[in-house]
Amino acid sequence: MTSKPLFLMTDPRHYGVFYEINPWMEPQTWAHDPAGLRTASASASRALRLAIEMAGGVVELLPPVEGVPDLVFPANAAVVLDGKVLLARFRDSERQREEPVFRSVFQALKARGAVNEVIDLPPDVLQEGAGDCIWDADRGFFWAGFGQRSTRNSLQAIETVFNEKVVGLELATSRFYHLDTCFCPLSGNKVLYHPPAFTPAALAQIHTHIAPADRIEASVAEARAFSVNAVNIGRQIVMAKAPPSLRRKLLGLGYQLHEVDLAPFILSGGGAYCMTLRLDRKSRAEAAMRAAE
Ligand code: ARG
Repeated sequence: MTSKPLFLMTDPRHYGVFYEINPWMEPQTWAHDPAGLRTASASASRALRLAIEMAGGVVELLPPVEGVPDLVFPANAAVVLDGKVLLARFRDSERQREEPVFRSVFQALKARGAVNEVIDLPPDVLQEGAGDCIWDADRGFFWAGFGQRSTRNSLQAIETVFNEKVVGLELATSRFYHLDTCFCPLSGNKVLYHPPAFTPAALAQIHTHIAPADRIEASVAEARAFSVNAVNIGRQIVMAKAPPSLRRKLLGLGYQLHEVDLAPFILSGGGAYCMTLRLDRKSRAEAAMRAAE
């Protein structure tokens, strides 16, 4: 029996935009109406959870912690594959405060048998979790973003821990500061991505590994709507409200869309993918072993 995809999310009770570590973050806008925006974030987070469940996933909600508002973006907490958890190390002090919180979350998950191993990065490496390291299930390797938050030497660290191929993609702009803001593998070998977010060398890697017919380009408007920051479960895609142009493209390719109004989180530079962390991803070797059992 295959079990359902399992995602972590965080209760958004203490979410807010209180500092500025990426160009999307607008503390002034938040300060204008904190109560209204907090209510809106509670409903947006609930709607996202429901959409993931509708798409066939299971969500485990982490308790809120005061003083770490970006804890609502667990995609940045770790890279997880085959039950191995590689803990993130953040660039910014505001988010470094999340590291001990997530460490105990994963230790508790390990104690319960939900994951097997919790691993630390080497000391000189910055790596912001699945936000900058995306498992491509169809191709069987990791795509890893670097150059904005994660450092180039994170690629080697990921490869060593998981013993899987890692294709590095250097990010060219601070607006698309994590790989998940501009790159999303979709079932059926497709990849949705925003070309201007990448350096020429990164685009060359994309062109080497993805056939032209499998590349779906997201326009500036589509990327700015955080549509690329999507959760894909089989033919289903859970994402922030998409511009009609992208909706048409994806429906035309046979995907089913679950769109959620995530405006309060876009105000912090996050969308559907970064508000979640998938815990049950398996490598090809592990999947084959399970199938043979
Ligand atoms: N405010 C957060 C930050 O700048 C947003 C993180 C969104 N996460 C992501 N994986 N894109 O770190």
